[in-house]
Amino acid sequence: MNIAVVGLGFVGLSMSSVLASKNYNVVGIDIDNQKCSDIRNGILPLFEPGLENTLRVGLKKKLTISNNFSLIKNCDMIFVTVGTPQKSNGAIELSMIKEAITSIGRIIAKSKNNPIILIKSTVTPGTMQNIILPILEKRSGKKAGRDFGLISNPEFLQESSAIKNTKFPHVIVLGGYQTRFMKKTKNFFSKLHPNIPIIITNHQTAEMVKYANNSFLATKISFINQLSNICQNIPGVNIDDIAKTIGLDPRIGDAFLNAGPGYGGSCLPKDMKALINFADKVGINPILLNAVEKTNQRQIKSIISLMEKSLGTLALKRLAVLGTAFKPNTDDVRDSIAIELIKKLLKKKARITIYDPKAMRNTMKVFGKKIIYAKSITDALNNSQCVIMMTHWKQFEVLNNNSIKHMKRKFIIDCRRILSKKELNAEYYAIGIGKKE
Ligand code: UDX
Repeated sequence: MNIAVVGLGFVGLSMSSVLASKNYNVVGIDIDNQKCSDIRNGILPLFEPGLENTLRVGLKKKLTISNNFSLIKNCDMIFVTVGTPQKSNGAIELSMIKEAITSIGRIIAKSKNNPIILIKSTVTPGTMQNIILPILEKRSGKKAGRDFGLISNPEFLQESSAIKNTKFPHVIVLGGYQTRFMKKTKNFFSKLHPNIPIIITNHQTAEMVKYANNSFLATKISFINQLSNICQNIPGVNIDDIAKTIGLDPRIGDAFLNAGPGYGGSCLPKDMKALINFADKVGINPILLNAVEKTNQRQIKSIISLMEKSLGTLALKRLAVLGTAFKPNTDDVRDSIAIELIKKLLKKKARITIYDPKAMRNTMKVFGKKIIYAKSITDALNNSQCVIMMTHWKQFEVLNNNSIKHMKRKFIIDCRRILSKKELNAEYYAIGIGKKE
């Protein structure tokens, strides 16, 4: 089986590495030549636990990385994993996927193979039928369903557990027509992931599933965040005990009930906006989705209000931010709430020092010289009048009275309740924990 993966972001890179490590012949294609040459040399464009090792194994076996699209010519399956970023109106930007499938169409025009093309990129319902399929047929001069297969195959993997999720997905969704290509794809996945449910449906349902999934996760987070704000005003109440208890009700489930500063990252915020935009287009007023988004945006404002309540004006005050990655175990700062917070604090003329175990380089790309980059947690805290803990990195759990001793004012806002079980000689506010009177 020859497999191509087009687009080497964290989904494509994880997928090509995992498949190659399982002895499939894989070509990973990306238009960025420098990125390709770095990957061939084992240099990753992003930090993802386990990826470096899996890639190394893959490269030793049958993984070829290239910017040369013609290598997909002899492939039986072509996975498209290019990004669909967000436009200013919230809709998705399709130029990258159009470019990728135009190239694929041109190559399969000349090929004698009958490949199966699987679209993993997140696209709104109808994109496959109305945009991707016509481009592919036009460029290839061939017919979908007869000369090549076309399947919607949304991806649910999470950054920071991309390798684990690629090896052990919780579900496989295949959208498309019941053709021999669908049968072949189903066989491929049932061999690759025995005992994992495979849902076979049409294109538009498969496309919608991804938005349903991510918007539900966002809803859970905004729900618990709103609840945590209520809890914060009840002395002694603890949102984590509440989340743990309601999570034991099988109708609710315990995942995604960690209250915090709001959801960020490259998917949840973007997919929420795209779904809201799409709902409007099909004539539905997405009241709940809008409220979920608004709740998310309010979370930062409430953190800033908490700071202002204690510190007064933030202008010229030295504030330390611990964690800029949108979640732990990644260096990704795309749509990170910490980045948004820093932008808002800079507007208020605060002086910011940050520390993140992995995301310093990416944070530097955003802020350049506008903020200070500390070498350690204590370095970040020195002389600061407040520390805001934004990302739950394990490393931050060691913070204690000694680490805060050189703070100008010992004032801690812990958005993830990392230190809530410690006795600290400080003014301590944890999001979701009501302060005792
Ligand atoms: C998400 C989806 O989970 C995944 O299925 C999809 O394929 C891509 O988008 P990811 O972007 O990696 O994955 O992040 P995720 O783990 O979902 O976290 C998103 C944000 O929500 C982070 O900012 C995180 O801190 C926040 N979050 C998550 C919470 O605040 N509380 C929680 O309980 C869970």
